[in-house]
Amino acid sequence: MWLTWRAAMEHALYGESGFYLRERPSSHFRTSVGASPVFAEAVLRELAAIDEALGGPDVLDLVDIGAGEGELAAGVLAAAPPALRSRLRVTAVDLAPRPPALPEEIVWSRAAPDGIHGLVIANEWLDNVPVDIAEQTADGPRLVMVNVTDGEERLGGMPSEADLAWLDRWWPMRAVGERAEIGRPRDRAWASVIVRLARGGAIAIDYSHALDDRPPYGTLAGYRDGAMVAPVPDGSCDITAHVALDACAASGESAGAVTTALTTQREALRALGITGGRPPVEQARNDPRGYLQALARASEEAELIAAGGLGGFGWLSQSRH
Ligand SMILES: C[S@@+](CC[C@H](N)C(=O)[O-])C[C@H]1O[C@@H](n2cnc3c(N)ncnc32)[C@H](O)[C@@H]1O
Repeated sequence: MWLTWRAAMEHALYGESGFYLRERPSSHFRTSVGASPVFAEAVLRELAAIDEALGGPDVLDLVDIGAGEGELAAGVLAAAPPALRSRLRVTAVDLAPRPPALPEEIVWSRAAPDGIHGLVIANEWLDNVPVDIAEQTADGPRLVMVNVTDGEERLGGMPSEADLAWLDRWWPMRAVGERAEIGRPRDRAWASVIVRLARGGAIAIDYSHALDDRPPYGTLAGYRDGAMVAPVPDGSCDITAHVALDACAASGESAGAVTTALTTQREALRALGITGGRPPVEQARNDPRGYLQALARASEEAELIAAGGLGGFGWLSQSRH
């Protein structure tokens, strides 16, 4: 069966017995959430800052979109001090079924709630929102079609007018053979988050690229059992493509965001106090146990902010008030 990449990804990842409805993401790849509980602590710091800015509302929302196994939502809840925890309403949003061990207080839902007061966090969600792929030909961009059983590709028709306009604005292809991942469904997905935010902040964290630095042949990739594999959309592997977060930012602004910051995870986490700083060596003599704990934490922090690794992820942070 030949489909556009968007339809093929939709079916492979979220169709009946699709990859994400069947598998535990952590068995296949490592995200910041799984890398260290320090990530949840940083999210809690961001949430506390929003709480303060909102004047400590009676109910403070934390909404985790693309929650996977719910580890981040559970981690923030567990780390929250009692005065915050008692006001916290945590919603984990995913298309997958509710994980069995999730704490009862966490609401599990297939869609984000309306009227959010607090923080929305979406770690590695948008890269799994299916996109079509276009290839530049001598006659202009054409859609790439894929055979869902073996991943073979061939060219199809022209992209829609709306997709052509998106390509012009956000991912102009220059030479024949170049490929672009048409991010319009991600822009819409992100806008749908911003319209649900009544007051507070929304953060999307993902592998990303910007208009002046798009990869000329795209970023489509497959992952299975911790290894990169050919992206065959047969439901046997994760299929992902990096995110044009600058386009999502513009879409979020059109949907009502009043502030936008686009930075790296390294910079964002450093601003939240995650620096990877090592404990002083004298501590090794006075408090060897504490020293070892501090050293382990420093190495987890360092992984989250490593420039060539997780620290290189894009952080799109927008707010409404
Ligand atoms: C790469 S995993 C990330 C899991 C988790 N956030 C983490 O960082 O470990 C992406 C998750 O997004 C979910 N997802 C994709 N599209 C979705 C949608 N439209 N609504 C809710 N969840 C979605 C998938 O089911 C999957 O669990």
